[in-house]
Amino acid sequence: MPAIISKATGKIILFGEHAVVYGYPAIAVPIDAIQVKVSILPVILENQSIIKIRNINWQEDIPFAELDEYDPIRTSIENVYAHINQKPPHFEMTISSSIPISAGLGSSAALAVAITKCMSQFLGIYLSNDEINALAYKSEEVQHGSPSGIDNSVITLGQPILFRKSKPISQIKIMSSIHIILADTGKRTLTKDVVTFVKQRLEKEPDFIKSILFEIGGLVEEASKALLYGEVKKLGNLMVRNHIFLKKLGVSSIELDQLVESALKNGAFGAKLCGGGKGGYMIAICEPSSCERVSFGLVSDGATHIISTTIKGSKQGN
Ligand code: PMV
Repeated sequence: MPAIISKATGKIILFGEHAVVYGYPAIAVPIDAIQVKVSILPVILENQSIIKIRNINWQEDIPFAELDEYDPIRTSIENVYAHINQKPPHFEMTISSSIPISAGLGSSAALAVAITKCMSQFLGIYLSNDEINALAYKSEEVQHGSPSGIDNSVITLGQPILFRKSKPISQIKIMSSIHIILADTGKRTLTKDVVTFVKQRLEKEPDFIKSILFEIGGLVEEASKALLYGEVKKLGNLMVRNHIFLKKLGVSSIELDQLVESALKNGAFGAKLCGGGKGGYMIAICEPSSCERVSFGLVSDGATHIISTTIKGSKQGN
């Protein structure tokens, strides 16, 4: 039997992180430049299943039975068993990923989606996108407590989305291609901790925090129109405003602010932190002609890694 292979991309939240946890809308897009790949082979002679992790930073072979109870790989696999009420024969699963971990780029959701798809195919079971999404959400809950569900949704659908908790997901139209630079602060934080930090601030200063979440939510409507009409400069402006609100919320960091400033100084249309914040990656959008200058500037201002990519627009020639 040939190996069964599934892939899932990373993602970025263009607008609305954190506010989305409290029911406001947010916009997310999949990023093809970073991916997780999962493959499964049935194992005939071994008496246990093996997980082989093949990443840039480390390589490891772990017997499935030795994975921690809350390990994201274990939870994703067991969620599929529980859903279809069937345990698979022993298998060898190889996971390789180019998505930076704990960096706001959707690594855990991508892992959950790719494992869910691969495991269900291995078992010969058809799962709809809604089922894959629901199972990936369950794995995300184990990792993040009470995630909004935006990460697993955009990665399962593989399309730009306008997401609102407990509402049907709408695909969003992007008219003009958007050139993106992602810059790493080199710092890692757990989304769960940053979400808890915002929750605690909301309890202590409800009026102030509610007003910020409301403002962030308001930017999303303007941003969807700017995406629809291909107004990239306006999008950049909205991004900067989104970053200022995230800073007021307390989820930025010195490094993130420095990178945002650097991108703007070197000609980016806009820039903001992306994902949970307090570390991880910053996103900037720029004209193709200024991307190189923005990237060089980011590196000299402290970025430890750069990912340059494009979100394809639907307008011809973009
Ligand atoms: O850090 P990430 O990529 O997991 O993004 C988190 C986005 C938040 O809005 C902060 C949390 C959530 O569950 O939506």
